[in-house]
Amino acid sequence: MRRTKIVEVLKSEETGKEFLVKGWVRTRRGNKQVNFIAMNDGSTIHNLQIVADVEKFGEELMRRINTGASLAVVGELNQSQGTGQNVELLAKKIEVIGDCDVNEYPLQPKKHSLEFLREKAHLRFRTNTFSAIARVRHAMIFAVHSFFSSKGFVNIHTPIITSSDAEGAGEMFQVTTLNLDNIPKNDDGAIDFSKDFFGRPTNLTVSGQLEGELAAMGLADIYTFGPTFRAENSNTTRHLAEFWMIEPEMAFYDLNDNMDLAEEFLKFLIRYALDNCADDLNFLSNRLKEEEKNKKADEKSMELIEKLKFVLEDDFVRLTYTEAIEILRNSKPNKKGQFKYPIEGYGADLQSEHERYLVERHFKKPVILTDYPKEIKAFYMKLNEENKTVRAMDVLFPQIGEIIGGSQREENYDKLVARMEEMDIPVEEMWWYLETRKFGTVPHSGFGLGFERLMLFVTGMGNIRDVIPFPRTPKNAEF
Ligand code: 4AD
Ligand code: MG
Repeated sequence: MRRTKIVEVLKSEETGKEFLVKGWVRTRRGNKQVNFIAMNDGSTIHNLQIVADVEKFGEELMRRINTGASLAVVGELNQSQGTGQNVELLAKKIEVIGDCDVNEYPLQPKKHSLEFLREKAHLRFRTNTFSAIARVRHAMIFAVHSFFSSKGFVNIHTPIITSSDAEGAGEMFQVTTLNLDNIPKNDDGAIDFSKDFFGRPTNLTVSGQLEGELAAMGLADIYTFGPTFRAENSNTTRHLAEFWMIEPEMAFYDLNDNMDLAEEFLKFLIRYALDNCADDLNFLSNRLKEEEKNKKADEKSMELIEKLKFVLEDDFVRLTYTEAIEILRNSKPNKKGQFKYPIEGYGADLQSEHERYLVERHFKKPVILTDYPKEIKAFYMKLNEENKTVRAMDVLFPQIGEIIGGSQREENYDKLVARMEEMDIPVEEMWWYLETRKFGTVPHSGFGLGFERLMLFVTGMGNIRDVIPFPRTPKNAEF
């Protein structure tokens, strides 16, 4: 007999038919005659109820059916008498595959805090919350590929080990095979990287963009979707040291085309989640409602499904950084009329409280900010005519702040070299990048969507550590 996934059993209308299911016990309850086992196999948020005749299977076997134990059950599909489910399995055969000692098993049949579950990350896939998030994450990965594939974009795998710093921010993890106890040095005392594996300093990539640009200069429309690494020591609920990024790069696109694509892309992903993850999103929405109960009225956030639909309703607002600064300067975010980080004036980078103010309270819509001062953006962004701002765009979302960062790229060889020199980017080492501007250069643009920021938004979770299976954050890389 072949195993049927619980999601399929629950959908089946063939009462009287026998099914074989395998999974893990969530709970067992009942009396001396009959026991009800809630079983889950990860295929759905819903448990399958197994009805077991105690006399038939014996009390000894029943006592082994503990929370966490794994089972194989053959049973007959019945209309369920109980509330909460339409069908159940009347057990014919039960086999305990793996026992589970409840005195040792950390997961109890009750709600655990997210902090506790982060400590038990090796087991949290067995909980409703984390299995729901994992399924939504999978659906979003699929939707990303589906969106770009339907538009004729080519997926490019960019290298994880590189020798360049794409963002020029110096937040890289070094990669080396040198023996740290005995580092080879040159006569002048500098590290002799000729002895290292690649014969030069290397690091984990912070972004696939530069290589993505190379590909776009031949394939026109490409996207990357890979892990990226940032050694920024920011212990926030929105930063990871290892996160996944989707970076489309398009030849012949200007900043407006870039914004259009970003908006269409985000709306597609959210629509996809609503259409394909209804059960999991409803579960996550209810979970959020429970959490919100303890919050003060002015701290409550929007209901999850409502919030997702809200993004689909209108066009995103588009305005320049300079306009945003004006709005923020004239705003009264709280009774005292102050932000925690005051708006220093033109030239300052925006904090997430400023970004969220614009989105959640001023416009009440997602916002795309453009034309940032060149000083606070990366070297590759195209300079505007006035020579002060660059054709950057950040997409700001409720609850999240920056979800996408992107720009039109500088396609002019001389301007790009000048900008790199100004910003101390090693021009000679990046000859390969610059050559695209020498041989048939074209206007082009791209952006990066932080996949876990998207996941935070779609699931309504509050901490980025809970939307990636194995979060890497400062002092956290045990397994
Ligand atoms: O704004 P960023 O740094 O832009 C780039 O890396 C460009 N190369 C993208 C491009 O134009 N191709 O990062 C892009 C996005 C951010 O908007 C944010 O969503 C996410 O990546 N991100 C992070 N997510 C989690 N943890 C971190 N430490 C992140 N840093 C950036
Ligand atoms: Mg950014």
